[in-house]
Amino acid sequence: MSKDILSITDSRTGKSYELDVTDGNIRAKDLRQIKVNDDEFGMMSYDPSFENTASCKSSVTFIDGDKGILRYRGYPIEQLAEKSTQLEVSKLLIDGELPNKVDLDKWISDVKEFNSVPKEIENIITSFPKNSHPMGVLISAIAALGTFYPNSKEISDEEENYKNICRLMAQVPILAAYFYRHSQGLPIVPPDNSMSYSENFLNMLFQGDEKKLNPVLVDAMDTLLILHADHEQNCSASVMRNTGSSEPDPYSAVASATAALYGPLHGGANEAVLEMLTNEIKTVDNIPEFLEKVQKKEALLMGFGHRVYKSYDPRAKYIKKAADSVFEITGTNPLLDIALELESIALSEDYFIQRNLYPNVDFYSGLIYQSMGIPTPMFTVLFTIGRTPGWLAQWKEFLNDKDQKIARPRQIYTGYDSRDYVELSSR
Ligand code: CMC
Repeated sequence: MSKDILSITDSRTGKSYELDVTDGNIRAKDLRQIKVNDDEFGMMSYDPSFENTASCKSSVTFIDGDKGILRYRGYPIEQLAEKSTQLEVSKLLIDGELPNKVDLDKWISDVKEFNSVPKEIENIITSFPKNSHPMGVLISAIAALGTFYPNSKEISDEEENYKNICRLMAQVPILAAYFYRHSQGLPIVPPDNSMSYSENFLNMLFQGDEKKLNPVLVDAMDTLLILHADHEQNCSASVMRNTGSSEPDPYSAVASATAALYGPLHGGANEAVLEMLTNEIKTVDNIPEFLEKVQKKEALLMGFGHRVYKSYDPRAKYIKKAADSVFEITGTNPLLDIALELESIALSEDYFIQRNLYPNVDFYSGLIYQSMGIPTPMFTVLFTIGRTPGWLAQWKEFLNDKDQKIARPRQIYTGYDSRDYVELSSR
């Protein structure tokens, strides 16, 4: 680690301070020594939405948003998407290294060992109204799952944590598939341990429909899961760490991260893109009118823009490529023409150029999911399955980080000074 010094002179007092600079950054807490009067709390930095605050040191995922680079544990996302599998990538994210054959086989078999959910959980899932949003059901079912494993609260026990990591990897897809079957009025399809992770998931959704279980589609599903597996300190990963910091069981933390992912500005964008294309834009001819609305700030172009990427999201680039192999099997998605034209027009307009707005991971993923026969409300559920190993990797890293404590941001209070209670009759 490189160490430097930042010298600050406070023009209010004329005092100078020297702050350690480590890897180009200062510790926010070092600002606290800067005060006008001794009885002051000391200076903080105001950073709504944490746009310029590093909350942790992490060796899980690297993003260079200007260059459009994404790496898991140093491996380029394109190579992992091309050559690896979701379970291998999960092991890489959680443990830090690509496993050798023996370790990979053990990991796969350990995950499979947990390939069934308690009957009561199945009953909970099938007691939801069929038209419930699957993300609401998934959040509830993941939290409920934790109640069956009270030892999962023992988060300082690494063996226990490993068991719960395997269980979450195995069972989040099962919860998702069981609700899908229930929502369609179809009988539950239990997991099949002879299948790969993604094949088993698609089989639990679509057993008996051979077209939807085509190996090319299974591969595409696995690739999509890999592309979604981690994305450093995004909204849901931060929630995973923040919830985890109060030391609940990992099921509760994953349920809270799932809730954070649900919103349309985060993982819910894939669903919102499909709705935008289907219900708002509808035809290529309507694109200019829609983009005018976007530029007047009357609408968002869903699937565009990113807090970190200020160039093309490498995941979107890869997904666009992967879509071809899916469409060869399923036939092209009629919405693809609208999406391609929308992208091409948007990327040539000043509004998007000036703000560096490019397609993100959610712009094209929904078109693939839809062609695979997955209903739109399930799209963010697929994101959840893909992202679960990333959350678990972030959680594990958090637990082992001696710098970390319970998350507790400060505020700048802007309310009233002390004032006396006013009786109801006098208000
Ligand atoms: N459509 C229109 N304008 C946009 C969009 C968009 N999709 N995204 C950003 N802008 C504008 C924004 O209005 C602002 O304009 P101005 O400078 O005039 O105020 C400027 O671009 C900068 O945007 P920002 O809102 O400050 O950026 P942010 O980092 O706070 O937000 C974002 C990032 C992803 C929430 C946002 O780009 C967005 O709402 N995109 C649409 C939803 C979406 O696709 N989300 C999925 C993100 S990728 C999957 C994931 O990992 O979650």
